[in-house]
Amino acid sequence: MVFVGNDVVDLTNPRTEGRATDDRFVGRVFDPEEQESIRAAGGSDMEIWSRWAAKEAGFKAISKALESTPPFVHRAFKVAWSGGDSPEATAQESGELVVREGAVEYLGRRARVTVAWRDGAVHAVAYLSDDSATETVRIQPRVVMIESPGSRWAGSLADLRQSLSEREADAVHSRESAAVRIGAREEIAGLLGVTESRLEIVCAPGPWGRRPPCVLLDGQATRTDISLSHDGRWIAWAIRVGA
Ligand SMILES: CC(C)(COP(=O)(O)OP(=O)(O)OC[C@H]1O[C@@H](n2cnc3c(N)ncnc32)[C@H](O)[C@@H]1OP(=O)(O)O)[C@@H](O)C(=O)NCCC(=O)NCCS
Repeated sequence: MVFVGNDVVDLTNPRTEGRATDDRFVGRVFDPEEQESIRAAGGSDMEIWSRWAAKEAGFKAISKALESTPPFVHRAFKVAWSGGDSPEATAQESGELVVREGAVEYLGRRARVTVAWRDGAVHAVAYLSDDSATETVRIQPRVVMIESPGSRWAGSLADLRQSLSEREADAVHSRESAAVRIGAREEIAGLLGVTESRLEIVCAPGPWGRRPPCVLLDGQATRTDISLSHDGRWIAWAIRVGA
């Protein structure tokens, strides 16, 4: 099984401003080695939020590979970039710029991570496999605006709930939370070549926003993994289609 995590950060949110020079924030979130790398990279917003998103995406992927969800302490999920402290950015066909690639490590577990930058948002996608023979893993990332006219996820929370099964709606706590499930489910249907009505994105019982989602086909678990994220103007997901 391949476990996927993703995280989007809306950089137009005022809470993201000035954090690179906020010593308390930097000291709480990053370990000393990471702090050194941040200084070496010039302490830019890109560096800070790329690392933040990588940690969140890494946490989501790694916690699914563990027997139980660990406490999420940002410092404990350590990020190391390949290509040094200021790697070259590479343009993607999607228009995104891949700004960082590397790994997130937590207690001997290692997730690969890619961070892309676009229109004032940073998006990290992480994955790890429980099978060391899995070499190349294709993940489908997506970042879209919640306010996309004509989209399947336009409408009020009450409207969006109508498009979800009772089990799916059980984990939904906001319009963004409903919207991201509708967008992701539509894309999974296309990737698997099945009608969307056969799919559900559900969560095990637990507190809202703290449960990893999983994909059901005709009510049965699948080897396709999904990760969801929402922040400000953006909803985002990452899909790994399993055999
Ligand atoms: C999981 C967590 C990282 C989400 O981060 P966030 O930036 O607030 O929110 P995002 O929008 O990026 O992600 C939310 C989605 O992550 C997914 N998710 C939640 N918990 C998850 C987990 N353990 N593993 C994988 N995915 C998870 C859900 O799909 C959720 O969507 P929903 O809110 O619509 O149900 C956050 O809930 C968290 O920090 N949890 C741990 C808290 C903790 O351990 N505190 C102790 C500190 S000492």
